[in-house]
Amino acid sequence: MTDSPNSVRVGDKDIPVWYEDQRVEVIDEHLHAAVFKDWADYHDPLIARAHELEEIKWGNSKPDSRTLGGKKVHHLEQWDCPAADLISERAKEFFKRLLNEQTANIDLSWANLYYKWDYAVPHSHRLSVASLVYFLDVGDPDPDDELAGRLSFADPRMKICCSDEQGYVTTRPYIGPENGKMLIWPSAFVHFVTPYTGDRPRITLAWNISRYKGELLPDDKPMVNVASTPTSRA
Ligand SMILES: [Fe+2]
Repeated sequence: MTDSPNSVRVGDKDIPVWYEDQRVEVIDEHLHAAVFKDWADYHDPLIARAHELEEIKWGNSKPDSRTLGGKKVHHLEQWDCPAADLISERAKEFFKRLLNEQTANIDLSWANLYYKWDYAVPHSHRLSVASLVYFLDVGDPDPDDELAGRLSFADPRMKICCSDEQGYVTTRPYIGPENGKMLIWPSAFVHFVTPYTGDRPRITLAWNISRYKGELLPDDKPMVNVASTPTSRA
């Protein structure tokens, strides 16, 4: 979309969608991360709105299975929440900068509210080019298992998963939890979340984004040409 705002007003602050000195970490050719250091300026109203909508949608009910990645609250663009608008604009901007594209179309967006023992089985997302996840509240750490509640990847197309031999998934990049961190990767790539053991809800936001509605990524085309990425490397 070419009508993206440069900033979004949250409370009494105009918050830039993207800082020109925003760093982007290259975790893998197909996995990039950005940490937005100003997250404290907009997380409180976003978390409050997520719980408000969670209550309306879910009440006392629960997901059918722990495997499904917690309670979902969809359509961030319909939350009537400036902080949700801001973070969705950041997701679209991340997509456009990494792919060197002028347009970004959100196929679907949602929040994941993980409660104790929730997890997500390995899966990928169809009908979009890139998937993004944002850490809104990393929840409680598990003193007995540092890999509890971690997002990770298991895909032979991702080099970081195949440290021993190309094509064999013998290693998994467990993403360090950090409030304000946003990740982007090709939607087709297999990812999962390990069981969460904390008491405070672990909350992430997610988007599936394409250049236009219903676009698919050809298997032989890398999502990102790192050499042409206009953002800095960590
Ligand atoms: Fe997913």
